Amino acid sequence: MGFSVPGNIIKNNDLVQLMETSDDWIQSRSGIKERRWADKNTTTFDLAHEASLKAISKSGIRSNDIDMIILGTLSSDYFFPGVSAQLQESLELNNVGAFDIKAACSAFIYSLSIADQYIKTGMAKTVLVVGAETQTKLIEKSTRGRDIAVLFGDGAGAAILQRSDNQSEILSTHIHCEGKNIKNLWMEAPGTSPGSWFEENKFNSERFTPYMNGREVFRNAVKRFPEVINEALEFNNLSIDDIKLIIPHQANYRISMAVAEKMGVNASMVYSNIHKYGNTTAASIPIALTEALEEGLIMKNDYVILAAFGAGYTWASAAIRW
Ligand code: UT7
Repeated sequence: MGFSVPGNIIKNNDLVQLMETSDDWIQSRSGIKERRWADKNTTTFDLAHEASLKAISKSGIRSNDIDMIILGTLSSDYFFPGVSAQLQESLELNNVGAFDIKAACSAFIYSLSIADQYIKTGMAKTVLVVGAETQTKLIEKSTRGRDIAVLFGDGAGAAILQRSDNQSEILSTHIHCEGKNIKNLWMEAPGTSPGSWFEENKFNSERFTPYMNGREVFRNAVKRFPEVINEALEFNNLSIDDIKLIIPHQANYRISMAVAEKMGVNASMVYSNIHKYGNTTAASIPIALTEALEEGLIMKNDYVILAAFGAGYTWASAAIRW
């Protein structure tokens, strides 16, 4: 694992200069104290590249062992092609398959799920899986956009998955989507649907920034997280007592604590670093997993569950024996 975040720290009180908000509102509603914002010249690819180099170095593989790249993002550098193609070029990987996954906050687990299937079927040996975002470039940093602007941050996290004979394993992944909720968390434009392009000067900036029905998303998140964690437990005949750590997508500290309560576990079992980075969408789980490892919270043979919920709605879990 490896991660990268921009150096530019934005504290809650810095946001007060840009919009009508307060440190107290942000901390009490979300648990966030600060987040990172990429500067103008730092792109999603830059963060993905740095995180990948760290993961490659820590895993001890050579980069040309990688035979597939899967990258989750909703803030790619270009409309097309994907960031994975830029990453492939920068890592000098010759012609290996590379593609992006647009499953918002669940994209890292979706990507992990695909990588796992490729490895288990023998079609790939070493897969680089990345979640990377510079989504703060898309948000409106004013009072009109404050409900979104205070929550999100930039970053990237990367994992190397490799076929091996040891006990460490992705035991299962479960992925879900409920597309009827698309409009509760979305960015409508730019797109190809009528009115969502710069056609006939109909540029409407609201359509070009993310929208979230916060309360609805919150309500669904606290339902789906425990559901998909329990699905992973049942599939693997594990009980919650077997699990060392739950690493949820870092959406909101209150959501994570609701998950802890519903699962009947201590708050410390549900990993949180949202106070430092905010919600980094596809990057939040690999960043959290890297930090949990660095803090010594996960040891060999420990059972870990990753869980995510986000736009789509999409939600997902992965059960791992470390
Ligand atoms: O990663 C994808 C998944 N995302 C999530 O899971 C996020 C889910 N939703 C949430 O985390 C929460 O709903 C929020 C943190 C977005 C909001 O918390 P809330 O307790 O649901 O607040 P609210 O929506 O009920 O808003 C309360 C008030 C509103 O004012 P009125 O209408 O009560 O007068 C908002 O206008 O807070 C106002 N408000 C703000 N005030 C200060 C909204 N944003 C801000 C702000 N600063 N940044």
